[in-house]
Amino acid sequence: MRGTNSNRENSGASSGTVRDPLDSIIGISAAIQQVKAVIRQVAPSDITVLISGESGTGKELVAEAIHHHSPRRNGPLVSPNCGAIPEGIFESEIFGHEKGSFTSADQRRRGYFEMAHKGTLFLDEIGEMPLPVQVKMLRVLETGIFHRVGGSTEVKVDVRVIAATNKDLGVEVSQGHFRQDLYYRLKAVNISLPPLRERSEDIPMLTEYFIREFAVRNHRPVPSIDPDAFRVLRSQYWAGNVRELKNFVESVVALGQDELITSEVIKMRLSSESGNPNLPVIVGRSEADLNQELVYRTLLELKHDMNSIKGLLQRVIQGQSLEVELPFSGAEEVETYSLDDVEREQIRRALANFNGNRRKAANALGIGERTLYRKIKQYRIKDD
Ligand SMILES: Nc1ncnc2c1ncn2[C@@H]1O[C@H](COP(=O)(O)OP(=O)(O)OP(=O)(O)O)[C@@H](O)[C@H]1O
Ligand SMILES: [Mg+2]
Repeated sequence: MRGTNSNRENSGASSGTVRDPLDSIIGISAAIQQVKAVIRQVAPSDITVLISGESGTGKELVAEAIHHHSPRRNGPLVSPNCGAIPEGIFESEIFGHEKGSFTSADQRRRGYFEMAHKGTLFLDEIGEMPLPVQVKMLRVLETGIFHRVGGSTEVKVDVRVIAATNKDLGVEVSQGHFRQDLYYRLKAVNISLPPLRERSEDIPMLTEYFIREFAVRNHRPVPSIDPDAFRVLRSQYWAGNVRELKNFVESVVALGQDELITSEVIKMRLSSESGNPNLPVIVGRSEADLNQELVYRTLLELKHDMNSIKGLLQRVIQGQSLEVELPFSGAEEVETYSLDDVEREQIRRALANFNGNRRKAANALGIGERTLYRKIKQYRIKDD
């Protein structure tokens, strides 16, 4: 599979024992029940679905569930991340190109639409699609027909499109970043996933589900959890939503030996991570305040790292050895490192600080979102 490392092409043909993604969508809240009902309702048709919600709310899980419950389940599910595709090759990545259509095009190449033939095309982060491509996109949604870049023959595909966004596309439209006609076409069915803090009644069930999942996967006895611990978990802000809760529960199970997870254990883990900006924060403060604080913490860490690097460079200039201690936490070994290592570590850390939210991480690092995607790919950074 070519393209960005966030592309996934999955042929369900060999399934049989594949778990049903709909069963993995956990929650007792009315919102989640409603989402599952809509998935069941729309999956059998070819209708375009727009999934919206903050990072970590389960958009990808919903897309998988729709595909799995559709008659296309044995076809491919192709999931390019629009934010990860460089603007210059966007059109050719999506629609393919003919041989000779541009200098480096030495042979015809299929785009994601053709790869998804008889299956589902899940366009993740659709808000990142460049405006000129949006025009072509609308036409394909309406006719199923397009031309490859540099080609004159019409290509017809049988593809169901699902799109996801963590932006408010309505706002993007009003700011002129997204075409209104495409927005209306996409949101024929809009599945909106509320942030976890607005459905905290789901937290106990999710927590138990993740505890069991991690314990079983690690061949450990499944610990039980004190109901009082749920109270503590429910009082957190969970800026990174279900993904953040999942990571937190994983750390509790991985680091503890307890048969019973109490509220004390939870509080202890929360406070032992208090030096860690990844820590979920208490409800009651505005999101703007929290974002500002996270940006501030990231900047402080970057400043600290910069100072270490300055010291290092000074030593190099003075002709001292390049063998230095990495200025990053957890680095026990003395190693030689490059500027790439520094950059990789800073990106990794910024992503951790913002629970994988690439937009916020890019802002904090002072680089564009696309540049960040490129670097994540280049450094093979895992950010889930
Ligand atoms: N309701 C849920 N029940 C169980 N697991 C969930 C639920 N929602 C999300 N998850 C899990 O949380 C993690 C994040 O979910 P997912 O990748 O679908 O989020 P997303 O909305 O696509 O995030 P992003 O915008 O950052 O791509 C995944 O591991 C997913 O399995
Ligand atoms: Mg996603």
